[in-house]
Amino acid sequence: MHIDLHEIDTYAKRWIKEAGQRIRDSFPKTLNVTTKSNPNDLVTNIDQETEQFFINKINETFPDHQILGEEGYGDTISKLSGVVWIIDPIDGTMNFVHQQRNFAISIGIYVNGEGRIGLIYDVVHDELYHVIKGNGVFLNDEQIPELEERSVSESIIALNATWVTENKRLPPELLAPLVKAARGTRSYGSAALEMVYVATGRIDAYITPRLAPWDFAAGIIMIEELGGVATNLRGQQLDLLKENSVFVSKPGLHADIMQNFLENGKW
Ligand code: IPD
Ligand code: CA
Ligand code: CA
Ligand code: CA
Repeated sequence: MHIDLHEIDTYAKRWIKEAGQRIRDSFPKTLNVTTKSNPNDLVTNIDQETEQFFINKINETFPDHQILGEEGYGDTISKLSGVVWIIDPIDGTMNFVHQQRNFAISIGIYVNGEGRIGLIYDVVHDELYHVIKGNGVFLNDEQIPELEERSVSESIIALNATWVTENKRLPPELLAPLVKAARGTRSYGSAALEMVYVATGRIDAYITPRLAPWDFAAGIIMIEELGGVATNLRGQQLDLLKENSVFVSKPGLHADIMQNFLENGKW
């Protein structure tokens, strides 16, 4: 199969902008909101229509590419061979429904399992975060500088408060010392935006015990391109075909937190 990354990238950029325009146009219209796994797991007709929009475009233009999308209109994927588009049509649906902001479209494009192109589009601010592996990360046309080291005491860490309450995924007391040691914590409600905030240095790390591949597929390509580190909460490589805990961070800070707060994954 001949793969022209620049051609794929040109289409992906065009489609993500077009999808964003459609989402902005939908703001005055009535949303159809339903729930999925629980009453707080929201989905709207716009999530579904946006995913279908990408699927139609990709199938028309690149019939041999595969698509993994959150809303399930794509393919069933059991291995990452060939070109795979990993799409979250709206990341931060709760924000989209309640706030009409703080959400993004996220697209990671993988070739034989390797992240090659990442796009995260903050639709309301018209800010496109974009990477082609090896060519740097850009916010619209501006290149984002490499990440620098930072100490825990001077760090802002994105962390959802749910994880310091009783839960099935990790001991709530594990993260308490880190919350205390950090300069501050934040929670934005969109994993994709939290990833680009790490990439741009607005925050220093993002920790969460459960994400799906479409939440992090694009963001980790950007963070790694800038010298940052992306693993699960035990310091292991992320698996693009299942749910993972996720810990992305500036370099240095990742090792520091792993060692001094996350018990090197031995909790
Ligand atoms: C969610 C957001 C949220 C994260 C959840 C995700 P969605 O994605 O990224 O910040 O905490 O785990 O499921 O459902 O809005 O696309
Ligand atoms: Ca969702
Ligand atoms: Ca998501
Ligand atoms: Ca989503």
